[in-house]
Amino acid sequence: MGLAKGRSGRQMANVKIVNVAGARPNFMKIAPLMEAYRREPRIEPLLVHTGQHYDERMSDLFFRQLGITEPDFNLEVGSGPHGAQTARIMLAFEPLLAELKPQAVVVVGDVNSTVACGLVAVKMGIPLVHVEAGLRSGERTMPEEINRIVTDAISDLLFCTEQSGVDNLRGEGVPPDRTFLVGNVMIDCLLRHLSRAQASPILEELGLKSREYALLTLHRPGNVDNPAVLEGILGAMEAIAKDLPVLFPVHPRTRAKLESCRKAPPSARTGRLRLVEPMGYLEFLKVMSEARLVLTDSGGIQEETTILKVPCLTLRESTERPITVEMGSNRIVGVSPERILAAYRDVMRGGPRSAGIPPLWDGHAAERIVRILCERLAGS
Ligand code: UD1
Repeated sequence: MGLAKGRSGRQMANVKIVNVAGARPNFMKIAPLMEAYRREPRIEPLLVHTGQHYDERMSDLFFRQLGITEPDFNLEVGSGPHGAQTARIMLAFEPLLAELKPQAVVVVGDVNSTVACGLVAVKMGIPLVHVEAGLRSGERTMPEEINRIVTDAISDLLFCTEQSGVDNLRGEGVPPDRTFLVGNVMIDCLLRHLSRAQASPILEELGLKSREYALLTLHRPGNVDNPAVLEGILGAMEAIAKDLPVLFPVHPRTRAKLESCRKAPPSARTGRLRLVEPMGYLEFLKVMSEARLVLTDSGGIQEETTILKVPCLTLRESTERPITVEMGSNRIVGVSPERILAAYRDVMRGGPRSAGIPPLWDGHAAERIVRILCERLAGS
């Protein structure tokens, strides 16, 4: 594919790429890509927001803080059961793709929008690019694991954040010339915004002091949809809160579950387990970077705490991001209150410290991806 010239003689973009973002964890992955495209005149990037997340605090705030330009298209699909949500995204994305006729579709992460748009693209014969490919928890009860397996199976180019991803794809028979270890676009985003985040007054606003609080996030269906599991975790948090204040920005799905949970609202009992609304990216980065430790069932937060060298206790039985454990910052503790409390005490005694930063988590993953896309799609 050669370079086309416009009437002005300027080089014109000749590779149209549709990029998909749908849910909160997608936005910090898509932002560095959209920025890297700006430096590549051969690529015409278009951004499609599926509308899987739509609240101001789950979506628009992130676009503003991360400087992502308005999406070119918003499919406004909203929430729903998995089948319905995935189907609605596909129904809305197909006619749009037929109109746009891009040379490739880029999907990121492992949410329903990722797999839905991926399926539509490949069925229309449009090459599919998956950013954050190859991660595997081995737990097929996690909706994200199914989304990862399916998306990787149908992708043409697969960009991995860590070696385990490359190895998993090899094991699943993906040809090596389609797989690239490029680093982590979410870490690009973190490094780009860390100094702005540090200036946030959020700690003073919350009356918290650096390293004198724990940070909690919970939203996995396996943890919050099961009242016994949720109550067990909250019990452990109340015990920790007697020792160290626990800041808990509550995801909308968790908020809904807490309302029907016997232990809710725990903040009313101790005052030291602080439930707050979901935070913006910069505020959350600030509270994460200054926490004594983080307790979470998120995937991305395991990676962000690795870079920040903040101890992370993962409230799940597995991780699809084993490099975070190898680096020493992350520990998989499960959801039993006894194990959570034992791990907490170990961290407070100065237990295992983070030793390192994973290879290529250097803030340049998006540039590497865009370079490879140019080689593969624009022929240079
Ligand atoms: C989704 C992703 C998950 C990701 C998480 C981050 C899938 C399968 N799951 O889970 O991988 O870690 O996003 O947040 O794609 N809701 C709102 N406002 C919103 C969005 C959601 O109130 O802007 C509420 C709705 O009640 C909705 C519920 O949250 O039913 C769950 O939203 P959904 O997008 O289905 O899944 P998440 O749990 O957010």
